[in-house]
Amino acid sequence: MLQHFDPRQSEPTAFDTGRFDIRQFDRDLGTPPRLSETRVTLNIDGIDINVPEGTSVLRAAALAGITIPKLCASDNLEAFGSCRLCAVEIEGRRGYPASCTTPVTEGMAVTTQNGKLAKLRRNVMELYISDHPLDCLTCPANGDCELQDMAGAVGLREVRYGFDGANHLDAEIDDSNPYFSFDPSKCIVCSRCVRACDEVQGTFALTIEGRGFDSKVAASQNEPFMDSECVSCGACVQACPTSTLMEKSVIDHGVPEHSVVTTCAYCGVGCSFEAQMKGDKLVRMVPYKGGDANHGHSCVKGRFAFGYATHKDRIREPMIRDSIDQPWRPVAWEEAIAFAARRLKETQSTYGRESIGGITSSRCTNEETYLVQKLIRAAFGNNNTDTCARVCHSPTGYGLKTTLGESAGTQTFDSVMKADTILVIGANPTDAHPVFASQMKRRLRQGATLIVADPRRIDLLKTPHGGRSLHLPLKPGTNVALVNALAHVVVSEGLEDADFIARRCDTDAYQRWREFISEARNAPEALETETGVPAAQVREAARAYASAPNGAIYYGLGVTEHSQGSTMVMGIANLAMATGNIGREGVGVNPLRGQNNVQGSCDMGSFPHELPGYQHVADPAVREKFEAVWHTTIDDEPGLRIPNMFDAAIAGTFKGLYVQGEDIAQSDPNTQHVEAALTALDCLIVQDIFLNETAKYAHVLLPGSTFLEKNGTFTNAERRINRVRKVMPPVAGKEDWEVTQDLANAMGYAMHYNHPSEIMDEIAQLTPTFTGVSYARLEARGSIQWPCNDAFPDGTPTMHALDFPIGKGNFAITDYVATEERASRRYPLLLTTGRILSQYNVGAQTRRTANSAWHAEDVLEIHPSDAELRGLRDGDWLGISSRVGRTVLRCRVSERMAPGVVYTTFHHPGSGANVITTDNSDWATNCPEYKVTAVQVEKVSQPSAWQQHFQRFDARQQHYLESAEAVTAPLK
Ligand code: SF4
Ligand code: SF4
Ligand code: SF4
Ligand code: FES
Repeated sequence: MLQHFDPRQSEPTAFDTGRFDIRQFDRDLGTPPRLSETRVTLNIDGIDINVPEGTSVLRAAALAGITIPKLCASDNLEAFGSCRLCAVEIEGRRGYPASCTTPVTEGMAVTTQNGKLAKLRRNVMELYISDHPLDCLTCPANGDCELQDMAGAVGLREVRYGFDGANHLDAEIDDSNPYFSFDPSKCIVCSRCVRACDEVQGTFALTIEGRGFDSKVAASQNEPFMDSECVSCGACVQACPTSTLMEKSVIDHGVPEHSVVTTCAYCGVGCSFEAQMKGDKLVRMVPYKGGDANHGHSCVKGRFAFGYATHKDRIREPMIRDSIDQPWRPVAWEEAIAFAARRLKETQSTYGRESIGGITSSRCTNEETYLVQKLIRAAFGNNNTDTCARVCHSPTGYGLKTTLGESAGTQTFDSVMKADTILVIGANPTDAHPVFASQMKRRLRQGATLIVADPRRIDLLKTPHGGRSLHLPLKPGTNVALVNALAHVVVSEGLEDADFIARRCDTDAYQRWREFISEARNAPEALETETGVPAAQVREAARAYASAPNGAIYYGLGVTEHSQGSTMVMGIANLAMATGNIGREGVGVNPLRGQNNVQGSCDMGSFPHELPGYQHVADPAVREKFEAVWHTTIDDEPGLRIPNMFDAAIAGTFKGLYVQGEDIAQSDPNTQHVEAALTALDCLIVQDIFLNETAKYAHVLLPGSTFLEKNGTFTNAERRINRVRKVMPPVAGKEDWEVTQDLANAMGYAMHYNHPSEIMDEIAQLTPTFTGVSYARLEARGSIQWPCNDAFPDGTPTMHALDFPIGKGNFAITDYVATEERASRRYPLLLTTGRILSQYNVGAQTRRTANSAWHAEDVLEIHPSDAELRGLRDGDWLGISSRVGRTVLRCRVSERMAPGVVYTTFHHPGSGANVITTDNSDWATNCPEYKVTAVQVEKVSQPSAWQQHFQRFDARQQHYLESAEAVTAPLK
């Protein structure tokens, strides 16, 4: 029996021993809970129990501590009633009803155990076992199999029917999926997998095909899993009570023995997982039922793509070199840190205090990020700190702070279950935030209206659902025009929430905004040509959002990564305030964060102008508070943003950079400009788990630790602070925060933390929204949504319920200014970029897993009419040119695209997607305009000049690494 730790039910003596192995948390109660306020009392085996109306007898019994055998039921799936193992006797009723499908009634008297029931259950099990291979001892699920458990529970000792009759024992195994296998010979056709795919994941990839003896589980049109609609979320594998659907890692390594609860390090959903281990080997990641963000669900990345942590490419020793034209020299940690500190100090003494800086990572923990910005402000003595959020959600920070007073999403994920109209703008949740997308799809199946504003027809629009769906296929770059048109309809058709505006908003600001938005130039009819969206559709969408009891907005990088990203965020907040959709469950303004800890890296003071908790460096009281605790003086001038660092490097005034866990050479726009900046540095220190693209320009390479190798916290898109617990030791011996601490000490600034919990204590001391956060509290509660302080001791699931941090909500004027990046005769197509499900960000992690089976290369999607015009076919090599660069990708003709718009992903460095993106950026925050680049495409036969240069440079740098590796120890 697997043992694991539930942070809410245990009283740990340490925060993270790495091996909590005492109790079994997720006892399966058989059927889902019911939320009725009406209570019902019944008697089960002589015990009185009071439960909500609608609860099944099976669940009521489980709550009373009585276990009824079951096979086809599970408490995350609606009951199906097919196996009959859960039969009970109910006084006054004939026969033996299935307890999973029988709801409780007042005064009901239930018997769960007697001779007749025992016989009936044995007969059921006997039939199952007579068509099941008797290979328990060699079966990979031995010891972790519900069928085996139930055979024991009902006391089955013999099978009278023999094994010679018709059976399924020769059914062929489907091994097509890289992560799990499907062995139909072991299937008991309980349909749990089918229901998990429908109800939990919402993909509907599985069916039970045929009838009676011939019934069997089929993926899509009876295809191999890999060719079907399956998205490899793993929900069916988890649901399967036998070894029919089984992780290959368990088949290879055996059933795990103990587990540690931790948090996924991929996207901003922040799913909780049990890292299930055998000895110190990680066997599988199983979504944790007690996870407040995911409630036991997962996607292919968090569930399966963890193999990169032990990949042979991991950097295992610190390395240094004088110039990037030299091979790496592996050295001890002390030498590497001393070398880095000396180079940074020399740089400062030659070029001045402002000549160095650092970049924090949204993939690292809050504690690590806090420490890097502290290192920069306290040890470097300047505010030249920035983060990768610069290139994704910095406009969210600016826009939400200006309008609502706080730089964060307003809701929990669960809030979507109360939304009546869901407006998704510039986000693709099924690919980028899959577990939240499954929850959203559940709400859509219940009948909520869906409005998608996106140039592409994203998959969410194709999901089966019960309500209306509207697609507003706007032209890239016209978000602000669209949101203004939506708001114009709200105001001109009297759909505002006058009461909310009067009570909660700055009415002067509202009046100014009302006059502006009422102008004829903001009417949908006036903006139809600009946005490409018919006015009637805009009006219909505005009415659907504004007149819904609860309207919720979810947005992504399709909003922020524009020259008017901040304006658009403010436009969204205006729309929500004008319709009263703020401050309760089911509504709100919700940025869907890309990386796991984007919210946290912003909260922790990564931006040059803000100390942790978004406290401005120019505020003397704020500085004084930090200076007293940090024992140093803090510069009162904001430092350089990432693009300014690049410009200053090229200008020769910025010479040293410390980059923790971020690959700016691949992820930032206008690659050639970034490469020129990195080449100009005298001292580039990269701390990462692999030789990423940035590290190829580095002089010091410090091994990073993966999320499995450290303690800390991540903050997800709901402001939820979740624990990250160490599952295995860091491959190079140090967690990332320890390396930053060593560097600070070597620079002459003392840091002496013994554990990340001490760093969190300091964060709580200095950050008003975190004063109630501590590791002890996180252990007790599982997770906490900030603000958590004296005013909100239990955290804040829904923000702005009573007032805004700035008092009254502020309506901002959102003039639409068309981007300079427009289609022209020379560049007639608009390129927009995005992500896909199987890969993550720059792909450094997922490309080193079997996820590449789904996406081995970036391709350019183009509408059939644009392809035909240019004589292009699927698979052709395409030269894509913008005004800053040129690259070559393979062509995919796709109906998902609107004519005139092309699309690609940026998961593979050699694709050079960012060679063509320009350095246009958001007016307020410098967030790059990734989503709009005017391009031309043509058929070509060879890689671009940049790609040829990239291949040569990459080969040389790989050679330098391999020569260094010859003297390093191999991974275990
Ligand atoms: S594959 Fe597993 S879950 Fe699906 S029907 Fe067969 S036994 Fe049940
Ligand atoms: S892995 Fe997920 S998507 Fe694929 S069949 Fe199973 S439940 Fe459905
Ligand atoms: S949805 Fe995001 S956090 Fe959850 S498992 Fe997938 S990648 Fe990880
Ligand atoms: S568990 Fe109730 S019928 Fe299968």
